[in-house]
Amino acid sequence: MENQSEWVIETQDLTRIYGDGDEIRALDGVSLRIRHGELVSVMGPSGSGKSTLLNVIGALDLPTSGNVFIDGIALSQITNKDDFRAKKVGFVFQLHNLLPTLTARENIEVPMMAHMGPAARKARSEELLTLVGLADRKNHLPGQLSGGQRQRVAIARALANNPPIVLADEPTGSLDTTNGQELMHLLRDLNRTQGTTFVVVTHDLSVARQTNRVIVMKDGRIDREDIIGNPIEEDFKIWRHSVLGKDILEGGENALDLLNITPEELESIRNFLSQHDKQ
Ligand SMILES: Nc1ncnc2c1ncn2[C@@H]1O[C@H](COP(=O)(O)OP(=O)(O)OP(=O)(O)O)[C@@H](O)[C@H]1O
Ligand SMILES: [Mg+2]
Repeated sequence: MENQSEWVIETQDLTRIYGDGDEIRALDGVSLRIRHGELVSVMGPSGSGKSTLLNVIGALDLPTSGNVFIDGIALSQITNKDDFRAKKVGFVFQLHNLLPTLTARENIEVPMMAHMGPAARKARSEELLTLVGLADRKNHLPGQLSGGQRQRVAIARALANNPPIVLADEPTGSLDTTNGQELMHLLRDLNRTQGTTFVVVTHDLSVARQTNRVIVMKDGRIDREDIIGNPIEEDFKIWRHSVLGKDILEGGENALDLLNITPEELESIRNFLSQHDKQ
């Protein structure tokens, strides 16, 4: 089916209220739009509604009011939620809940069980293991893998049915910095090469910085959104507070010599810095 919408995920005024007496507004009017192929992170304090948002988008939970559209189709119109999840969304959780008695390859095959024969499943799972760099670990049980390797198996499992969307709730939460960064490289690669849209909940700013956009939640609402530019732009933004950055902004011709750049280049750097100065 052709994509009917520019947005792969759209939510409109989403609320999720728990309890009846002391009601908790886990989501309190969340409207957001995510484009095909975006890599988005969601940050915010504990209890701000990040997991609830992911669960509602992935049809694991129902909103109290408001709508979720996936590829332009309202979730409320979809009767077979299991089938929807199998085809459209892959999930990665913090504790990667792999089945402990199944090997890496068998775990990846679980989402394919309903609609693929054994040979096709085996071929696909081996392809995915190669994609996440674990071809030589296919017969290992989760207990025989490192945390980072287990998380890569979880990602391969989320990709099993080639879903357009992968929702990841603190996928690096149980990993050390190095493994966390490696996992983010993998997500970025997959995002680029497979075109998968990723929504990644994280508490880690260095993880968020690797995404295109950061949605910051607070008390069940979107508090703000930041677009992450390319790394050079990000460096410039930091740089504008430096002595040299200030010199450039103030028109200091020193920069021409110091940086060995042309007046045109100086002008475009100055424009860039002054734009960001206004933000
Ligand atoms: N099943 C539930 N029943 C009642 N309240 C719930 C339930 N699930 C979540 N909540 C409440 O909803 C709010 C949002 O929870 P949520 O799990 O979405 O937060 P979060 O941003 O993911 O936090 P964390 O960073 O700690 O994972 C919290 O106040 C939480 O206590
Ligand atoms: Mg959470």
